[in-house]
Amino acid sequence: MLVPGPGWWRGGPQLGTLGLWAALRAAAAPAAARRAHPARPYSPLERSPSNEPARKTPLKEWTLIVNPFGRLQARLPCDIAVRPLDPYHYPDSDRVLVTVSGVEGGSLDLDGIQVKYDEAEKQMAIVSDSIGYEASVEVKVPMKFDLNIRTSGTGCVKVQEAECDDCRIETEQGISIVQSVKSKKLHIQTKGGKVICLGTILGNTDIHASEKSTVTIDKLQGSSVNISTEDGLLKAKYLYTESSSLSSAAGDITLGSIHGDLTVHSKMGNITIGHMNQTSECEKWIKASAPSGTVHLRSQSWFQSLKLKGF
Ligand SMILES: *[C@@H]1O[C@H](CO)[C@@H](O)[C@H](O)[C@H]1NC(C)=O
Ligand SMILES: *[C@@H]1O[C@H](CO)[C@@H](O)[C@H](O)[C@H]1NC(C)=O
Ligand SMILES: *[C@@H]1O[C@H](CO)[C@@H](O)[C@H](O)[C@H]1NC(C)=O
Repeated sequence: MLVPGPGWWRGGPQLGTLGLWAALRAAAAPAAARRAHPARPYSPLERSPSNEPARKTPLKEWTLIVNPFGRLQARLPCDIAVRPLDPYHYPDSDRVLVTVSGVEGGSLDLDGIQVKYDEAEKQMAIVSDSIGYEASVEVKVPMKFDLNIRTSGTGCVKVQEAECDDCRIETEQGISIVQSVKSKKLHIQTKGGKVICLGTILGNTDIHASEKSTVTIDKLQGSSVNISTEDGLLKAKYLYTESSSLSSAAGDITLGSIHGDLTVHSKMGNITIGHMNQTSECEKWIKASAPSGTVHLRSQSWFQSLKLKGF
C-alpha cells in the first residue's frame, strides 16, 4: 500500500498533499474516480505521461478575520486540506486563509465557491458544488477551530495538527487523512475512501468506513474508541484507550500494541493482535470473535514489553 513515511507533508507546498492524494487515488480508486465523473474518461492524473500529478497553482485567495474559537464548515466536491495558522505571523490567531488551486488553464468555476464568515455564529463557511473536482482548497485556521468537513465524489480531506472540541469529516470515495489531531470528539465517516491516521491522534474517536474502505492508524489514544469497516482492512499500530470497540463485516482486523478494554469482531475476516500491553493491577479484558476467520493473540505483560524494548 502506498502509505507515505513520516515527513512527506513537509515537501513543497504544491506537491506535498496534492501529490500524495494523486498517488493514493491513482493506485487505489481509478475505477471509482471514473465512475464519479463519467463525462471525463480520464482524470488529469491518469493522463500525465510520467504518472506525475499535474501541477496545481494557486488561483484565488481569501483572508478573513475570525474569532479564534470559531468553527469551519466546508462542503466541497474537491480536495481540502486544513492546517493551523502560522503563530509567528498571526499571534492573535484570528485569521482564516483560504486558497483555491487548480491546473492553470483548466476550467474551474472560481465564482462558484462561497467563502464567508458569519460573525454571530462564529462560523466560517466554504461551500461549493460547482467548483470542479480538479480543484483543491487549502485552509489555514486558528489552532482551536472546530471542524466540520464534508466532501462529495472523490474529494479528499486532510487535517493536520488541530486541537479542538469537535472534528467531523465525511467523505464519499475521498481519502481522509488526519495527522496529529487532538479533539475531544473525532468523527470520520466514509463510503469507500481510505481513512489514514498519522502520528498521534488524541480524543474520543468514532470511525465508520463502509464498502471497501480501509482504516489505518499509527497511534490512537482516547477514553472511548469505536471503529467499523465493512469490506476493508482495519489496522492499528498502537491503541491506548479505556474502552474500544472494533468491528468489520468482511475485512481483517490487525492490531499492534493495545491497552484497555477491547471488543473486536470480524464476521468474515481474521483478527490478529500482536502485543496486548495490560498492566496486571488493572483488570482489562479483550473480547475477540471471528466466526469465519481465525483469531491470533499474543499477550505480553508490561514488564515483558519493557524488556522487549531493550530497557
Ligand atoms: C462508542 O460506542 C459506545 C456504545 O455504543 C458509546 O457509548 C460511545 O459513546 C461511543 N464512543 C464514541 C467516541 O463515539
Ligand atoms: C484468514 O486467514 C486464513 C488462514 O490464515 C487465510 O486463508 C484467509 O485468506 C484469511 N482471510 C482474509 C480475508 O485475509
Ligand atoms: C505498555 O504500557 C505501559 C504503561 O501504560 C507503557 O509505559 C509502555 O510504554 C507500553 N509498552 C508498549 C510496548 O507499548
